[in-house]
Amino acid sequence: MRKPFIAANWKMTKTIGETEEFINAFLPMVKHIGDVDILIAPPFTSLSTAARLLKSSNVSLGAQNVYYEEKGAYTGEISPGMLLSAGCSCVIIGHSERRQYFSETDEIVNKKIKLARKSGLDVILCIGESLEQRESNRTFEVLENQLGGSLRDLSLDGITIAYEPIWAIGTGKTATKEQANEAHAHIRGWLRKNRDSADTVRIQYGGSVKPENIEELMSQPDVDGALVGGASLKPDSFAGIVTGAAKE
Ligand code: PGA
Repeated sequence: MRKPFIAANWKMTKTIGETEEFINAFLPMVKHIGDVDILIAPPFTSLSTAARLLKSSNVSLGAQNVYYEEKGAYTGEISPGMLLSAGCSCVIIGHSERRQYFSETDEIVNKKIKLARKSGLDVILCIGESLEQRESNRTFEVLENQLGGSLRDLSLDGITIAYEPIWAIGTGKTATKEQANEAHAHIRGWLRKNRDSADTVRIQYGGSVKPENIEELMSQPDVDGALVGGASLKPDSFAGIVTGAAKE
């Protein structure tokens, strides 16, 4: 039995004041929910404030990125130790926007996951195909390459996979529940062949998740949660997604 896991990826939105406003409104809406793991990943600048406000709540704190060195002359980068000291328990690694705009390869993603895990952070590893890859029937091949490269020499301990088809991110075009489950089942099949504990690893779906479609996505056997961008920016909308996931 895999506990549903719903995570908010705020990307580059929300000032410290807006973070405070969101959390103060959101916590009362979900405080009764115990059967869903809930995580918020605000920008780095909001982490300390969010950590203070989320303390002793049922919502945990994550970051959206991390570097693969512990310290040193890497201007602008943030280490796992810094994230832990800011109150994070988890970090998102390999989001398609990082891959697309900041040239992150599976090799870089792999190095980041290794240091994050060694440091004690849980990881949400993002993978997913582009529209062109899907239309040329290369979805499974792309997912397998991303898994193989990103998870090289790693166990699944502390790792959640987020399947995010790039064509569904921020486009309002959600994968159908069948498309999502097919990809999730394929990912789990690959993990089963190549790693231990594939049956306990959680696989989130990401890409235009909203309160209106969370229940049908969660009704699928291999969908264990969601990584939510746009619809996580308003407290009532994100609470609606969390509540929808709790019903299953
Ligand atoms: P979206 O983003 O929910 O706005 O499509 C999802 C993500 O990028 O994680």
